[in-house]
Amino acid sequence: PAFWVVIPAAGVGSRMRADRPKQYLQLGGRSIIEHTLDCFLDHPALAGVAVCIASDDPYWPNLRYANDGRIQRAPGGRERCDSVLNGLRQLGELGANEHDWVLVHDAARPNLARADLDKLLTELADDPVGGLLAVPARDTLKRVGPDGRVIETVDRSVIWQAFTPQMFRLGMLRSALEAALEAGVLVTDEASALEWAGHLPKVIEGRADNLKVTRPEDLEWLAQRWSAGRS
Ligand code: C5P
Repeated sequence: PAFWVVIPAAGVGSRMRADRPKQYLQLGGRSIIEHTLDCFLDHPALAGVAVCIASDDPYWPNLRYANDGRIQRAPGGRERCDSVLNGLRQLGELGANEHDWVLVHDAARPNLARADLDKLLTELADDPVGGLLAVPARDTLKRVGPDGRVIETVDRSVIWQAFTPQMFRLGMLRSALEAALEAGVLVTDEASALEWAGHLPKVIEGRADNLKVTRPEDLEWLAQRWSAGRS
């Protein structure tokens, strides 16, 4: 089935300590967000993309994708979930229906493998709720107090790291995000809004190298992968 994509790209990325938002840093001669868009643009089932860009963003208009007919710009919002809501509204204007699948994917996650994208689409195709790519915790996990001392070891067998894309029906996702925002609950990804609304998103195990560029060493690691040729 066809799917739509929302790329929230209106964050400032202060943890990168860079001169520009992290999605515009260079990786293999192009900006991170261009690689991120490439993960979707040649997919035969893609219906369209909304990219959420801050109003004062000077970088996006200079990218060649700014003039690509498959991509529509939506306004950025105060928090990530505000940006995603703007993106969903933009998709509605493009003709998306309430029941259509929408994949929300971080602009700063440029190393999504096609096999993972297809796995998500296939395994959730008939799901009543939807879900997300995720990776089971691999290290031993500690709960740590404010004094930097370990309080306890957490059972890692039930802990997963939530990645993107996160795939939900447009109408269900919009309602859940709106309700969560209204209630003032902390929503750091789409699934948390669905969970809060009482749904049970499914985790689909993905590759650990689908990482979100957050700290300078993430970009160094990806740059090495890129120069060695992506696997
Ligand atoms: O800050 P973090 O890494 O969690 O951001 C995840 C994604 O959400 C990034 O692609 C960022 O650009 C986006 N974002 C957004 N609007 C905000 C905050 C973050 O689109 N207000």
